[in-house]
Amino acid sequence: MNHKQIRKIFLSFFKRKQHQIMNSASIVSKTDSSLMFTNAGMNIFKDFFIGKKQSQYSRIANFQKCLRITGKHNDLFEVGKDTYHHTMFEMLGNWSFGDYFKKESIKWAWELLTEVYKMDKSNIYVTIFEGNKEDKLSFDSESFQYWKNQIDDSKILFFDKKHNFWEMGKTGPCGPCTEIHVDLRNEKEKLKIPGKNLVNKKHPLVIELWNLVFIQFFRKSDGTLVKLPTFHVDTGMGFERLCMILQNKKSTYDTDLFTYLIKSIAQKTDQIYGVTDKIDIVIRIIADHMRSVVFAISDGIIPSKNKSGYVIRKILRRIIVTYYLTLKIKKPFLFQLVKPIICYIKNSYLNKLHLKDDISTIILREEKLFLKTINLGINKLYKIIEKLRANKCHLIAVKIIYWLYNTYGLPIEISKRITNKNKIQVFYSIFRKGSCK
Ligand code: ALA
Repeated sequence: MNHKQIRKIFLSFFKRKQHQIMNSASIVSKTDSSLMFTNAGMNIFKDFFIGKKQSQYSRIANFQKCLRITGKHNDLFEVGKDTYHHTMFEMLGNWSFGDYFKKESIKWAWELLTEVYKMDKSNIYVTIFEGNKEDKLSFDSESFQYWKNQIDDSKILFFDKKHNFWEMGKTGPCGPCTEIHVDLRNEKEKLKIPGKNLVNKKHPLVIELWNLVFIQFFRKSDGTLVKLPTFHVDTGMGFERLCMILQNKKSTYDTDLFTYLIKSIAQKTDQIYGVTDKIDIVIRIIADHMRSVVFAISDGIIPSKNKSGYVIRKILRRIIVTYYLTLKIKKPFLFQLVKPIICYIKNSYLNKLHLKDDISTIILREEKLFLKTINLGINKLYKIIEKLRANKCHLIAVKIIYWLYNTYGLPIEISKRITNKNKIQVFYSIFRKGSCK
């Protein structure tokens, strides 16, 4: 099944359950000033949950582009190292605004996964909120009852607030959740360690797929919970992970959402994907971050010095530092990856792009600018190293590395790599013996 069919099946399923189908909102948060980017499908519905606005539809199903690179939900540092985290991902969701609740959500989730998508039931585990004393919340017995109608007791696991109580941020609508996890290991591995022991343990093949959140409370800024007058359903299923499972892959990066991009990166960097971890990680970082950058720009965020523009510029620079250091590439090439990503966006989101410059021009400009900054900074650093050598000194104060960063924008990782290569040691304390005058 390709990703288009998988998406269509999800939306048609909920359409049959009387849901209004909606296109994704922008990846840039427009409705909530506490967020820069949409980090979950529910952001755009926040006002419906807290009763500030009334939804025209009591049931909605959608797919939402999300970006998790700032704030409470930030996956930036997981990306690349593993095979299933993303900064930009798509979330499939079904929503009830004061309409159905736990019973239908659980029944339909199970029906969709096992009867429509025909996932192997024996691979599925579910988790339930065990309660929390501090918040005076008891264990979610309702979800437990409804799951017992679908799945064996031994597959139902209990977790604490960290895993099974979903909150948008420090304040806002929230509630207990029940998550669906899938074990994708082979039979031999499963015999060695039962899947239930690996749920929520960051195993790359025992992964969370779908989170069903039951919005019952509002968390106030003093930390207390207030019960909402009406209860709602907010679910989020990771589209990349769903494709990984249904396409029998061991990594989201091996699904048809990514293969075209991975292939293109490997080609343009003259590397082979799937041979060494070091190169694979870099290629995954480039693929993930480029999607984030292109999606954000296509929704109107231009890399700049300000707010969200700055975040996007930093992500782009993170890719440049990565390719500069690991792949030893010194010339712009990311701009060549834009076209296939734009094709994907146009097909999936029917986005109309209203940008003055095309996205590859914007990215090329950024790449050139940053590579120039790096070169200028490196020249300064080499001059300093020459002086140190002339004084027979092999130490450099960390403050100089920071000065190069603050004044010339030379990334610290690059300074450290160069000093190391030139056998110059960075010292961190002014009291260190042997520091050079
Ligand atoms: N709001 C829930 C999440 O983002 C579904 O995981």
